[in-house]
Amino acid sequence: MESIKIALLGLGNVGSGVWQILQRSGDQIALRAGVPLEIGGILVRSVDKPRQVNPDPSLLTTDAYTLLNDPTMPIVVETIGCPDGSTEPALSYILHALRAGKNVVTANKEVLAKHAKELSAALAQGRGGLYFEASVAGGIPIIKALRESLAANRVQALMGIINGTTNYMLTKMASEKSSFASVLAEAQACGYAEADPTSDVEGHDAAYKLAILSSLAFGVEIEIDDIYREGITRITPVDLEYAQELGMVIKLLAIAKEENGTIEARVHPTMIPASHPLANVSDVFNAVFVQGDAVGDLMFYGRGAGSLPTGSAVVADCIDAARSLRSGVRLPLSVPLKRKALLPIEDTVSRYYIHTRVIDRPGVLAAIATIFGEADVSIESVIQKGQHRQDPVSLVFVTHLVKERNVRSALSRIRNLSVVREISNVIRVEGE
Ligand SMILES: NC(=O)c1ccc[n+]([C@@H]2O[C@H](COP(=O)([O-])OP(=O)(O)OC[C@H]3O[C@@H](n4cnc5c(N)ncnc54)[C@H](OP(=O)(O)O)[C@@H]3O)[C@@H](O)[C@H]2O)c1
Repeated sequence: MESIKIALLGLGNVGSGVWQILQRSGDQIALRAGVPLEIGGILVRSVDKPRQVNPDPSLLTTDAYTLLNDPTMPIVVETIGCPDGSTEPALSYILHALRAGKNVVTANKEVLAKHAKELSAALAQGRGGLYFEASVAGGIPIIKALRESLAANRVQALMGIINGTTNYMLTKMASEKSSFASVLAEAQACGYAEADPTSDVEGHDAAYKLAILSSLAFGVEIEIDDIYREGITRITPVDLEYAQELGMVIKLLAIAKEENGTIEARVHPTMIPASHPLANVSDVFNAVFVQGDAVGDLMFYGRGAGSLPTGSAVVADCIDAARSLRSGVRLPLSVPLKRKALLPIEDTVSRYYIHTRVIDRPGVLAAIATIFGEADVSIESVIQKGQHRQDPVSLVFVTHLVKERNVRSALSRIRNLSVVREISNVIRVEGE
């Protein structure tokens, strides 16, 4: 049987995984796709670079458009990424291939999150499909689950640990009681964090992925800048200890909810009960917790990165693309078309952990509690620890469910009290 040829753009971590899987499981993949899949050419920056895998050198090229325009390669796999912080040239290559009617498989969350509209237009222009299982949570099949397996559900909420670097760091900080800076240095030494860790630790990476998940879950187009985003740089070992004392853990969560047609999407450090299914997702592992109106609670867990796990998702997409080519049935356009504004963060409702540093003096607790009361912020619990009247001391509050606007209004007054040295941290509490 004649094979279907793939133009592979990029032969780094993910591209090498794709190559390896196609080599070692070619027979099984051919059975599943109904046709053998073969790499027809590979785009790289440097053909001479030593690599983890060694395809025939004649396959390597630095000429993107010769590959993209080759009519014998109806599937294009993009694993270039955004190496210099730019979505180019990956975006142009994907758009070119889609307009030419090719089936494009990509692992590039940033291109998908920032350019949904252009991708949608290019898809409509061509006759191919856009497949992106590997763009969120690496090897975890969450895209297909949302797009196909949960199609009968109205997704009410999803919460995910979808950035392995920050999950590794928060796990280490909690278990070793280490600071953010020392764990970051360790993560960089192990290759879990980039030399410039901004995208991970400030939550950009998780926000790109949340934009993709939310658009699939709720069928809308979400502007990446509308997603509220806070990173983990302000989390301290002290907060992690308080979390433990409260029976909770701190995770960087990507959260999206839909209620009465209103959608909220946010990425921030979150306290969740130690008994929550996401609480035990440690180290570089990822997980996505989904609540559907018919199916109830679901949890998807696995490796969110790595050459073979991510390659597994890319090759599965290639198999789907090959099936579509053989059957002539096009994948329905999956990039949403309707733009939807998100609920402003001030209008979202959550519980809050509020860590203040105050002068240890009678009446301080009452003064703060009065302000919370006046702002309609009801307090669930308080932890007060003072050692030999050494000022300032920590005073920690956990609120009941309350609108963020009320918390902000109370904190702006509490911050001005003469006995309050600082509001050290405010962390949203979810998951009950
Ligand atoms: N790494 C993971 O575990 C993982 C997980 C999920 C999703 N992803 C996504 O997968 C994509 C690829 O990630 P990666 O880790 O595999 O990246 P990578 O290791 O840096 O590999 C990038 C590859 O693209 C090639 N390349 C880069 N810029 C190019 C250009 N301008 N022209 C031609 N070729 C170019 C590089 O060529 P040279 O080899 O010649 O330098 C390299 O082979 C990204 O979008 C990433 O977000 C990665």
